[in-house]
Amino acid sequence: MPVKTIIEPFRIKSVEPIRWTTRPERAELLRAAYYNLFLLPAEDVLIDLLTDSGTGAMSTRQWAAIMEGDESYAGSRSFDRFRSSIQDIVGYKHVIPTHQGRAAERILFGVACKKGDVVPNNTHFDTTRANVEFVGAEAVDLVIPEGRQPSLKHPFKGNMDVEALENLIEKVGCDRIPLVMLTVTNNSGGGQPVSMENVRQVSSVCRKHGLPLYFDACRFAENAYFIKLREPGYEAKTPKQIAQEMFGYGDGCTMSAKKDGMANIGGFLCANDDKLAQQEKDLLILTEGYPTYGGLAGRDLEAIAVGIQEALHEDYLRYRIASTAYLGNHIAEQGVPIVQPPGGHAVYIDARAFLPHIPSEQFPGVALAAELYLEGGIRSVEIGTLMFGAAAKMDLVRLAIPRRVYTQSHVDYVVEVILEVWKNRDRIQGLKLSHEAPFLRHFTARLEPVEQVLSR
Ligand SMILES: Cc1ncc(COP(=O)(O)O)c(C=O)c1O
Repeated sequence: MPVKTIIEPFRIKSVEPIRWTTRPERAELLRAAYYNLFLLPAEDVLIDLLTDSGTGAMSTRQWAAIMEGDESYAGSRSFDRFRSSIQDIVGYKHVIPTHQGRAAERILFGVACKKGDVVPNNTHFDTTRANVEFVGAEAVDLVIPEGRQPSLKHPFKGNMDVEALENLIEKVGCDRIPLVMLTVTNNSGGGQPVSMENVRQVSSVCRKHGLPLYFDACRFAENAYFIKLREPGYEAKTPKQIAQEMFGYGDGCTMSAKKDGMANIGGFLCANDDKLAQQEKDLLILTEGYPTYGGLAGRDLEAIAVGIQEALHEDYLRYRIASTAYLGNHIAEQGVPIVQPPGGHAVYIDARAFLPHIPSEQFPGVALAAELYLEGGIRSVEIGTLMFGAAAKMDLVRLAIPRRVYTQSHVDYVVEVILEVWKNRDRIQGLKLSHEAPFLRHFTARLEPVEQVLSR
């Protein structure tokens, strides 16, 4: 009988100690951080699930490649390696390095988009939306209706609603749509994948209307693996072949290499269109740097060149997707309400359902995140009323898993802490704001507990 246990497909060569704190210390640290986990010093966190962005561990090959970094200002060897590694996967003609994903977005929308335009996406990530809106255009989210229902199971909840796309094109006209975007996987929608069939359909609508299709490719490798697992016809293909096919239906992409680039910093923008790419490179020189480094050191380009290929290794993806699912399934089995099915990079707890006695105005997501820290030193992030204000459709707590950082026993520990908090959920109090910034308030907000617990 084949062995079923899925193990971390690596040995650990260098370790970074994590620090235990006592519960009374954490209670004091929470008060000092005004119940906002962004304000906690990282060294007081035992397991940090704030984000999977830039927090991964690099491999021995990546560290070795870093020593090969060519720091020449123009025409460095490192750029050649970076470009050919990326082109091997995406197949696009122009590869433009940027310091991270949002810089690629700013350049793309700064060049391709103008006031009054409309950009459809399955779901815009917040920096993507902000960059579309910054040029005076409208960002429209067209995820399928299933993608908006947290507890509903569907294999490809990140899919775009193709009929809604057709309707939008008909309503606003092609002239006002500079490009269509697909975010793989759909981060804001729970890290849910997009199927190849959906990519094909969206691509054919785009072709019919002469519109370019772009990917927000941050988690393209995780998306490819979900296709392999869930979409008939792809079982025997490698994640790389699947990714290559997917990119082949598009005309360009933006990428934060802090995710499936397996690097701690970096990103890129790709395009097939020569004229557009020239304008993008001109703008790049103004704000990021010369087109063969784009705000990155040569060693960063090397780390990405190696990392983006490693992200497609099947044994890595098997472990990655299995460990996220393990966390999600183990808490869901005990009744903890989560966005179903678990995503690729994160598990999202439905805080409104977890804490029905706390109204949204009292930030159930922030209260739950604070309690997970108090109970076990775990840092997560609220995605809900604190982040989006009254516009928040859900109050979620995201547990994002850094790549290749934590082991099975860390995940078991997180499960145990969450279940302990679940058992005592009635005792958790809501919070009220004592300070908020005029925009992006979640990063710096200060909160305090409300005086009395509302009765259920
Ligand atoms: C889907 C998606 N797009 C874009 C970005 C922005 O990337 P960066 O943080 O590198 O600017 C992120 C980052 O989390 C993301 O998840």
